[in-house]
Amino acid sequence: MKFPEDYINKIICGDSLEIMRQMPDNCIDLAVTSPPYNLKNSTGNGMSANTKSGKWAGNPLQNGYSHYSDNIPADEYADWQYNCLKEMFRLIKDDGAIYYNHKWRVQDGLIQDRKDIIRDMPVRQIIIWRRKGGFNFNPGYYLPTYEVIYLIPKPKFKLATKGNACGDVWEFTQEMKNEHPAPFPVSLIERIISTTNAKIILDPFSGSGTTAVVAMGLKREYIGIDLSPDYCNLAEKRISKNKVESELLAIKPALLF
Ligand SMILES: C[S@@+](CC[C@H](N)C(=O)[O-])C[C@H]1O[C@@H](n2cnc3c(N)ncnc32)[C@H](O)[C@@H]1O
Repeated sequence: MKFPEDYINKIICGDSLEIMRQMPDNCIDLAVTSPPYNLKNSTGNGMSANTKSGKWAGNPLQNGYSHYSDNIPADEYADWQYNCLKEMFRLIKDDGAIYYNHKWRVQDGLIQDRKDIIRDMPVRQIIIWRRKGGFNFNPGYYLPTYEVIYLIPKPKFKLATKGNACGDVWEFTQEMKNEHPAPFPVSLIERIISTTNAKIILDPFSGSGTTAVVAMGLKREYIGIDLSPDYCNLAEKRISKNKVESELLAIKPALLF
């Protein structure tokens, strides 16, 4: 595949690490992503196997993703995610940044803040994404209501004008109307992209294509990668629907005369 023609404004179906490794250095402005959380390999507030009944019954992620189990050994998972971050960092320009969404979790009774993944990556800020509440089945701790977004920039990264007026705690309700089991809320990605000057935005775990759809709406370029052909199709459908809607909006005033 050739850069940029085979990547820009495309949803690419495949393994993100393999695909990122074929891309040239410093070719994107922003990476915005939420990886699989390895939720099925958890003893704490994740989702252990055999959840056909009980607290997680009926959860859309009960069986993992359509083409990925989300259940690998913890060390293997942390190494994989660290390697993905290193690769995203190689791809961003000198004034680029990574926004990496993850969730701290309790494992064997102890909070795990994901240092096992982040390691030596130059985190500048941790943004709290406050979600709406859910269910808490554990009387040992308060209902968890937030996820984190690590801002991992290269040294010259700056926000767009007035972008720094936003605080570092963002409240956005999780997305309900999406066939994907764990989509980003559109408003969360709007906040990220619109507070930067990024032109080319990569999401290496693009799922239903939220990052791509928002980038397109804000007149930026996108690159989406996902392992699942089902989710890639879903993303393509959302992108086409948004294209048609924005074209209709553009011609509407003309129809009035
Ligand atoms: C949390 S979801 C991302 C959802 C996305 N943010 C959205 O708005 O729909 C994680 C995604 O990672 C994908 N995935 C899992 N393993 C992958 C791999 N090796 N390469 C690319 N994508 C992968 C899954 O198919 C899933 O769609």
